[in-house]
Amino acid sequence: MKKIAVLTSGKSRGSNFLAIYNHIKENKLEINIDFLLVTDMDSPVVKLAQERSIDVILINPEMKINDFLIYLFTSSDIDLIVLAGFMRKINSSFFAKIKIPVVNIHPALLPKFGGKGMYGMKVHQAVFDSKEDISGATVHYVNAEYDKGSIILQETCDISDCVSPEEISQKVLKIEHSLYIEAIKKILF
Ligand code: GRF
Repeated sequence: MKKIAVLTSGKSRGSNFLAIYNHIKENKLEINIDFLLVTDMDSPVVKLAQERSIDVILINPEMKINDFLIYLFTSSDIDLIVLAGFMRKINSSFFAKIKIPVVNIHPALLPKFGGKGMYGMKVHQAVFDSKEDISGATVHYVNAEYDKGSIILQETCDISDCVSPEEISQKVLKIEHSLYIEAIKKILF
């Protein structure tokens, strides 16, 4: 059985967490979500995890996030760390000490529309403003630079008929939900 940990931050909605969980269960995959990490116990994703009997760990607010992550993953038997709406920076000291691969999903086609400050609706607004005909999602490895780790999988969608950033976000989110688990399987098996 492979073990993964899902990391979120803020008021995480948890739709990617749920899509990953559902795919694992429906397909009886040999993957266990060992725990969900959050920065806010009031975020919707906490309820989703608790209803499915997945342990929820709250990042100790008295510790720096990076230090907490090093503390948590030192001597851990987790095979893969999955960021799903985790908006905090992981520093190079983490990657120097922890050798567990870390992946993220970005709601656009990297390397375009990535980097510092490019998250959530800001990404879709930028794509919309650039009058792009195509957008999509990217799963990539995480390193100490925002959205710069190597790309694992990408999928595109036609957004030429989208009349708002919200519409783009809905189309892209649909892709995210199937793409992320495909990338996870690709890495683990
Ligand atoms: C997703 O759009 C993902 O691309 C980004 O954060 C968002 C998380 O959404 N990294 P959800 O909490 O999984 O619904």
